[in-house]
Amino acid sequence: MGDGIRFRFDFSLVGESNLHGGDGIGAPAFRAAMWKVDKAVQEIEKKHERGEVGFPDLPFLVKEARAIARDASALSKEYTHILVLGIGGSALGTRAVYEAVGGEAARRGMKLSVADNVDPDEFIPLLRAHPMKRTVVAAISKSGGTAETNAQLSMTIAALKKAVGPQWKEHLILITDPVKGVFRRMVVAEGLKSYLVPPNVGGRFSVLSPVGLVPLAAAGVRVERLLSGAAQMESVFLHTKGTDNPVRFAAAVYTHYLLQNPKHIQVWFTYGAGLSRVAEWWQQLWAESLGKKRKDGTSVGQTPARAVGVTDQHSQAQLYQDGPSDKVFTFVRWMKGRERGSVPDAGFAPAMTMLGGRPLRDLFDAEFEGTIGALWSAGRPIVRMEIGERNEEHVGAFLHFWEWVTAIVGECAGIDPFDQPGVEEGKKIARALMGEKGSEKRRQAFEERVAGIRRAEIRIGEDAPARKRRR
Ligand code: PA5
Repeated sequence: MGDGIRFRFDFSLVGESNLHGGDGIGAPAFRAAMWKVDKAVQEIEKKHERGEVGFPDLPFLVKEARAIARDASALSKEYTHILVLGIGGSALGTRAVYEAVGGEAARRGMKLSVADNVDPDEFIPLLRAHPMKRTVVAAISKSGGTAETNAQLSMTIAALKKAVGPQWKEHLILITDPVKGVFRRMVVAEGLKSYLVPPNVGGRFSVLSPVGLVPLAAAGVRVERLLSGAAQMESVFLHTKGTDNPVRFAAAVYTHYLLQNPKHIQVWFTYGAGLSRVAEWWQQLWAESLGKKRKDGTSVGQTPARAVGVTDQHSQAQLYQDGPSDKVFTFVRWMKGRERGSVPDAGFAPAMTMLGGRPLRDLFDAEFEGTIGALWSAGRPIVRMEIGERNEEHVGAFLHFWEWVTAIVGECAGIDPFDQPGVEEGKKIARALMGEKGSEKRRQAFEERVAGIRRAEIRIGEDAPARKRRR
């Protein structure tokens, strides 16, 4: 691995010799998966050379990242808050990186909030809570045509106009496609500040572009280090041969559990502060990239699930151990935590004294090992991933690692990991229902389709028929 980053990827608990119960990968199956992976990498590289796939270039946009960091430092002289408007790939990466490097507790810049929902009961109070005179707003939409983000933006502009009058434009940054979409038209018409989303980088692969870098830099995250970690991972991927290559190895393992011995669910069990937000980012990456129909009409995909250690040991672990054998597990943790506290010896009973004087981390680590041990005893396939440090380099490298693994597994599955036709269809229907011009036919077709649905509603309360008392 590169000089500055350290990871431990442990695949021993998917190996046939270590896993009883028949779900381990034997040598011939692994060779078959590796062969598919090699072919897939060649295909993606061709797409990359043709300029169709852009995420591998992002770690090297260092000049752009420096400029973004400079802009952010200038903004922080005037503003105390940054509010991100966006959804899906325009929001999840920012939140994942921010929390992974320490979140609010480690903040060095403006206070960051990410509004990725239009639930009025969340969004309106969030907007109201912002001191608009001291708030800069980053509205992010690659397409510039997502109804949720458009609605957030319109409401935010109204709030800005109310607070600062004609100066509202100075508070606004739009991050969007260089040419297409409503956001780009607004930038041109109103002369707004904007950054570009590279057209060949899809939303969920865009965290290392201005989509993530602008808000993260404003919040004080060292974005050049984020890219430097990702660049080191890219170099490991490009220059490490065969089974020593962690990206190819992981892609082969997950391809096996997607295609050869399909496990319909992948569970990420995270042990460490901030990692559950990374798991949220991964969930979108995995679900939206791999959940597809092939050209021949067959479906593929693996449901990504999240569990937080140790909390969910007491909620989900029972199912994972004794329930259906339809899952592959990925355990993720930091190698080193930050806090050092120990448990005092409270006496009373052996169950308490056993803990006395021991670092709390020893218990956390024992729980991690214990859960893996229990699942392993039940014959479940498990991958362990340990991240050297809780900092920008490591987080950038880890996200880039997963972008590659996802792209390769998608290519192996015979689908396009970079599109999202299902999401687009949902967006179109929502816009049609909101009365978008030109979408009247879509709306009519949808309404006719649902008109025939017989609803089985159960109401309790004033509208419900009065019940007769049983005698
Ligand atoms: O990954 C994706 O492409 C999607 O999840 C998008 O990020 C999401 O739908 C938001 O799209 P946009 O950035 O165009 O508003």
